[in-house]
Amino acid sequence: MTRSPILLIHGGAWDIPADLLEAHEQGVFDALQEGWRVLESGGSALDAVQSAVTSLENDPAFDAGRGSFLTRDGRVQLDALIMDGATLRAGGVACVERIRNPILAARLVLDRSPHVYFVGLGAETFAQSQGMTLIDNSELVLDRERRRLAEAHAREQAGAPDRTFSGHPESDPNETSHDTVGAVALDSEGRLAAATSTGGTLNKDPGRVGDSSLIGCGCYADNTAAAVSLTGWGEPIMKLVLGKWATDKVLAGRSPEQVAPEAMAYLLRRLGGHGGIILLAPDGRYGLAHNTPRMAWGIHTAAGPRTGTLLRDQDENESENS
Ligand code: GLY
Repeated sequence: MTRSPILLIHGGAWDIPADLLEAHEQGVFDALQEGWRVLESGGSALDAVQSAVTSLENDPAFDAGRGSFLTRDGRVQLDALIMDGATLRAGGVACVERIRNPILAARLVLDRSPHVYFVGLGAETFAQSQGMTLIDNSELVLDRERRRLAEAHAREQAGAPDRTFSGHPESDPNETSHDTVGAVALDSEGRLAAATSTGGTLNKDPGRVGDSSLIGCGCYADNTAAAVSLTGWGEPIMKLVLGKWATDKVLAGRSPEQVAPEAMAYLLRRLGGHGGIILLAPDGRYGLAHNTPRMAWGIHTAAGPRTGTLLRDQDENESENS
């Protein structure tokens, strides 16, 4: 049976300032176009989420690829995961410093390795062995992020509480940015896929890995259940294995429209965590939710694209099928 394809995207969940709203919506819109081009020409959900996330990584507005947050010692370290719901094949990389598009390295892991996950130097060596060109880390670093890191260090030195969400209990979703990106898709053959990519958290310790690239945490896809991508404060999401929690609920018969806001409520209630979620079932039902002031989101169906940066007060409207 031929299905009507669907693509959902997020570009981070936080209190996106007014002067950044347009850039976020535009970035999500561009990524929708890239992913939809694949789906409307009969391509796979896996290729669609890869295209969408590559576009978001290439956009410096987001905390993924070039322009990501810096580690405590001023470097970009990137994490990404891609998963095929039809086969449960997955590919992940973490703590890579010399790869422009970690989602493409993750796809190489999925396609060409018997393993699921590579980190650091091993991930870079694997990607290079598969033909990927390694770059200098400085190519991923923006002056904007050098300034942001310097401000975080100045706050630390002044003894101010660390509100940059690197695991601190006083982390504040209104003050901290979560620009992790992700996509989930359903293709015309009924296959689901998911992809998530991030530069992690501002001022993170080198070697820290968040939820985004960990299977079942920030990303998961299974045709018998659902596809999911999360954004937000990684440590609580990891502790709850929240991506798998959400897809298991759909597998048990709950609707994604209900499960998405429940996942965000659970994250807040259980661990004080904050973030956003996109969740897509194999029958085309979907849910989006966030417990932060805003989330950059986009949906493309046969009816066309829609984007926005606010859902919280519109959950009922935005979780309806088109
Ligand atoms: N959600 C991104 C991270 O915490 O690394």
